[in-house]
Order: sequence, then C-alpha cells, then structure tokens
Amino acid sequence: MIKLNNLISKTTINNIYEAARVEEVISDFISLKKAGSNFKGLSPFSQEKTPSFMVSPAKQIWKDFSSGKGGNVVAFLMEHEGFSYPEALKYLAKKYNIEIEEFRKTPEEQIKFDLRESIYIVLNFSNEFYINNLINSDKGKSIGISYLNSRGLTEESINKFGLGLSFNEKKGFTDHAINEGYDITHLEKSGLTIKEGIQSFDRFKNRIMFPIKSISGRVLGYGARIMTNSKKVAKYINSPESEVYQKSKVLYGLFESKSFIIKEDNCYLVEGYTDVIQLHQKGIKNVVSSSGTALSSHQIMLVKRLTENITIIFDRDEAGIAAAIRGVDLILEHGMNVRVCKLQEGEDPDSLARKHSLDFIEDYIKHNSLDFINFKASLLAIDYENEPTKKAEVINNIVKSISLVKDIIKRELYVQTCSKIMKISEDSIFKTLSQIRQSKENKLRNKNTKPFNLIKNQSLKEDSIDELYELEKKIITILILYGQKTETFNESILIFSEEDDEIIEKNKYVNSKVYEKIFLDLQQDEVEFANKEFRDLFDVLMTEYQINGFISIEKIVPTLSKELSEVVSSIILQDEKHLLHKWDKKSIYVKLPSENVSVMVTETILSLRKLLVNKKIESLQENIKTKNNKRVLEDVMGYYQLRRIVSSKLNRVL
Ligand code: CTP
Ligand code: MN
Repeated sequence: MIKLNNLISKTTINNIYEAARVEEVISDFISLKKAGSNFKGLSPFSQEKTPSFMVSPAKQIWKDFSSGKGGNVVAFLMEHEGFSYPEALKYLAKKYNIEIEEFRKTPEEQIKFDLRESIYIVLNFSNEFYINNLINSDKGKSIGISYLNSRGLTEESINKFGLGLSFNEKKGFTDHAINEGYDITHLEKSGLTIKEGIQSFDRFKNRIMFPIKSISGRVLGYGARIMTNSKKVAKYINSPESEVYQKSKVLYGLFESKSFIIKEDNCYLVEGYTDVIQLHQKGIKNVVSSSGTALSSHQIMLVKRLTENITIIFDRDEAGIAAAIRGVDLILEHGMNVRVCKLQEGEDPDSLARKHSLDFIEDYIKHNSLDFINFKASLLAIDYENEPTKKAEVINNIVKSISLVKDIIKRELYVQTCSKIMKISEDSIFKTLSQIRQSKENKLRNKNTKPFNLIKNQSLKEDSIDELYELEKKIITILILYGQKTETFNESILIFSEEDDEIIEKNKYVNSKVYEKIFLDLQQDEVEFANKEFRDLFDVLMTEYQINGFISIEKIVPTLSKELSEVVSSIILQDEKHLLHKWDKKSIYVKLPSENVSVMVTETILSLRKLLVNKKIESLQENIKTKNNKRVLEDVMGYYQLRRIVSSKLNRVL
C-alpha cells in the first residue's frame, strides 16, 4: 500500500522523468500513428474525425491542436486521467518499475493532501478486501466462487476482472478499514460506507462485487450483484457518483479491452457486466458495457480514441431496442460507424457466449449485424407496401439518421442503400435530406439573431484581451526559437549633443543576442507579463540563457509545471502542425520567418508597448470621467505623446 503522508523524493522524480517516454505512455490510451518523426492520433479531448493530436518523441512533448492542450508526459496523465501530480508520478513509477523513495510531508501538506487520491486509495484497498473475501475464505469459496462457477465463470476471468465478495455483515468492511487507519470521511466519499447519524454501515452486503475501472485500471466504484434470483431486492446495487466516479464517463471493461479494441478496430457494446466477462472468456475481448445507463457522448468519445467502429449487441427486449436506437444516432453524430447485432428472442451476449463456440459466435455476429439503415428498417418490418404512412415514417426516421453522417461519401452510400431497401428514389431521399438541413439551419439562425448585440460586445472585449496574450506569447515564442541568435538591431539611444547643447535621440546599429535585447527592452519599460504562465516561463528561460547562453528544451520541459509545459509544447509543435490535416483552417498561426528576427523582435516589443500605453490611457480616461482631476489629465497627455512616439517607431519598423 502507498503511504499517504509521504512526498516523493527529487531523485525518484528525476528517475521517473528519465525513464518515461511520452509516446509509450500516451499510446496506452490513444492509438497513435507515425507521422514523420512524430506520432499523430485523434484528440481525446474533443470529438473529431481527422487527427489533430500530436506527440513528439524527440522533444518528449504532446500537443492537442483541437483543444489547445499540451505538455509533457505528466501533463498528459493529469489532463487525461484527472490525476494529481503525485498520482501521475506514481502511475509512471509503476509502469516503469521505478522504486519510489519518499520523505515525510509537513503538517500543512498533509492537510492539503488530495481528496481524490485518498478516495482512490480507499477504493483500491476495498478491492483487495473483497477479492480476499472471495478467494481466500471458506465462505467466499462456498458461496461466491460456487455462484460464479454456476454461471460458468472461470477462475481466470474472476481474477482478470478483479471480482470480489462482500459478506453478509452490517459493517465488516467499514470496521476493517477504520482498523487499518483509513479515514471515515474518505470511506464515505468513496461511496463504500453509508453514515447514518453516528453509525456507519457498509453499502454493499452479501453481493458479488464487480469493480468498475478507469481506462488505466484504477477502481472507481462497484456494481454489486445478489447471488440469488430473488425479485425482492435489487439485482444490482451500484456505487453512487463520487469525486472519482461519474457513471456517464466510464465504460465497464474498457481497461481490460482497450488493446483488443485497437487491434480489432472494432468495439462491441453490450448491456451488462456479465456480458462483458463471458465474451472475454470465450475469446471476444474487444467489448465494453455501458452498465445499464443510457450510452453517453462521453462514453462514445472514450471508444473513439481506440476505433471508429462500434457494434451494438443489445437484448431483443423493448428496453434493449430503445437503447440501441438511441445509441445509433449518438454514435453517428460522433462521425463513427455503427452496426447493430440482433440476438434471438430471450438471448443476451452472456447466454450466447455460454452456449456456443467462439467460431459459432463470430459467425453469428458477422451474419446478424446490420448497418443502421437495415437495422431501423427491420424494426418496423411490417407490411410496408400496404401501409404507406408507416413506410413514410420509417423512411423519415432513417433519413434523419443519415443526415447525422458528416462524411459526404459515406452519406451518399447510405442514401443508395436506403433507396434500395425502401424502394424509393435517391432523389426523394436527397430532397428530404436537404429539408432536414434547411430546418436545422433555420433553427440555428433563430437562435443566433436575438442576442446579437451581446455577442458583439463580448467578442470585442475578448479580442483586446487576446491581443495582449498573443503578444506575450509571441515574445516567449521568439525567446524559445531564436533567443540565442545574434542579430543587428536598430537602437535609438540618447546622447548629449555638443552642437545642440542638449540631449538628442540617435539611431545606431548594434549587435546583440535576441534574449538580451528582449530582456533589456522589457526591463527598460518595466513591463511585466500579464499572463502568469508566460511570466514564470520568461523567468525560467532568462535564467537558462544567462547561465548557459542557450536553452535545451528537452532538459527544460520535464522540469516545468503542467501549465508551462503546455505553453512550450504548443510553441515547439506549432512548427510541425502542417503534418496534420486541415490545420490551417483551425488556426490563424503563421510560421515565424527566421530571416527577419530582428524586425520581428522590435515590432513585437513595440506592439506590446503600444498596447500597454493604450490600456493605460483607457483606464485614465475612465478616471477623468469620475474625478475630473487635472493631474490625471496631464498623465493622459503624457501617454498620448508616448503613444505617438511608439507608433511612429512601429511605422518605421514596418
Ligand atoms: N443494472 C443495474 N441495476 C439493476 C439491473 C441492471 O445497474 N437493478 C445494470 C447492470 O450494469 C447490468 C445491466 O444493467 O449489468 C444490464 O442489466 P441485466 O441485463 O438485467 O443484468 P446482467 O448484466 O445481464 O446481469 P445478470 O446476467 O447477472 O443477471
Ligand atoms: Mn444477463
């Protein structure tokens, strides 16, 4: 068990960073394909059809161009798995077999200790406890194992899915956990313990425990089944939602199935826990379950990282069919391909798997899986020809699904299929499609007209904030890409002119390092970055330049916080973005010209100055309105003059 009150040592952290390979870690979650010297894949953070997620093995960073996220290996785990920093490190240590050296935390750190991590640890402990009940106790063997065996589940399956048993005791688990030093608050927050007044009880009693795991295999909660067919009590009791468990964001079996889903390039979607386990046992291992909840967008996105293809295998009962219909449209909306496999009356994947051989099942699925058009048509397989209104209804329903398909070629193929099956001309289908699109567009337009003014104001405000952000980012970008270059700058310097007997401004060409020029200019203006990440990164980069005269990105990236590594990776990988499809439509980024670094530096700094002066003037003008103060007025005049100077310099550069 991991000790809670300890911190990971610096040496361990270094060892972890040295061993961890960002491409290896990420490919446990996303299927990556080689793209030049990088890898690319589908963004796990948004719905998309063309890959905009990029990993650079050479630089050990990643970037998701659709959501803007990016960073080092730890940032990925924090972002993707919702890990805290220590959680991410521990995950990597485990993956790369690195021993964790720990030292004690200060009392404050102890208090601040992440609630989520405590809940994960409690859940992990509970899983060990329930497994131990099932496997190592007489009761477990006589009640639990025998029940599972009677359902045809092997020891191997029981172990693989971490099945356990809760005894018929009021608070056996809670007492044991408290004895072992676990906090009652964490037990409650994990959903394992229920508190009533001053008493605490176990939530799960006398049930087979099915641990529900995250994609990386952490226990998040349980589905717990009674071992009889009694109709008096709920067949399953499930963990309540918690800090770590949101049922719409989890798919049962995904952890055990993910590599097979990638390999088979298809994912079977079934209804229950036992369906998943039985199919695995039979050798069909690319299968997940939405565990009795309506399939959610988030769950589809989890699958989409691994494959574009889903085959729904639901019961033939009303609930199963209704769920399949809902699922079909949602999956199509996500740009994925969906098929539906129809089972015989009264059959579910569990019973199918128990009764038949692997060959038979594979064959059955192959011959009974329908694309969504045939599936929908088959549902209403009544006598169409004699019931024209029913037929129209079915066609409309199918065309609605087709309209969700975004890929033009696929859509056209579906139109052809629909036309053939429903014996209706392709022309009429296309007409219906365009009617649907028209009404969608109308709805959208109606939505957009009303709050027009509001949107306009908001976007103006955002623009000005963005400008500052973009300029600061540009300075950081220049520093990273060209900081160590020596350039010739046109500097205006103040000198004392003997002739005129006064101080005059003179232009002079000077050679200097780009980072020095930036540093001195910003210091001279006492400019500090508004953006906290940029400010911190600026300090890091300057220190590196001043000590070494150059920066080594591979060395810096691992030492950065999640936020900073995100900024750096976005800058570095920007250059390599052209390898992705259609990137230019998504972004306004223009490649920085390395020939004209000097002009670019001067221009950027002047633009920043101008922006800051404008902001200053704006805020002073606000002041005049309220105070009408003469001093303020003078200040404004001063800034006006400054703005003129900066603007004229800027014009000279451009
Ligand atoms: N379910 C639930 N609570 C219930 C019944 C069902 O949470 N009272 C969920 C479970 O995730 C279950 C799924 O819905 O796995 C499908 O329900 P069902 O087909 O009734 O259960 P099976 O998994 O087939 O369970 P078993 O085969 O053990 O009867
Ligand atoms: Mn079942």
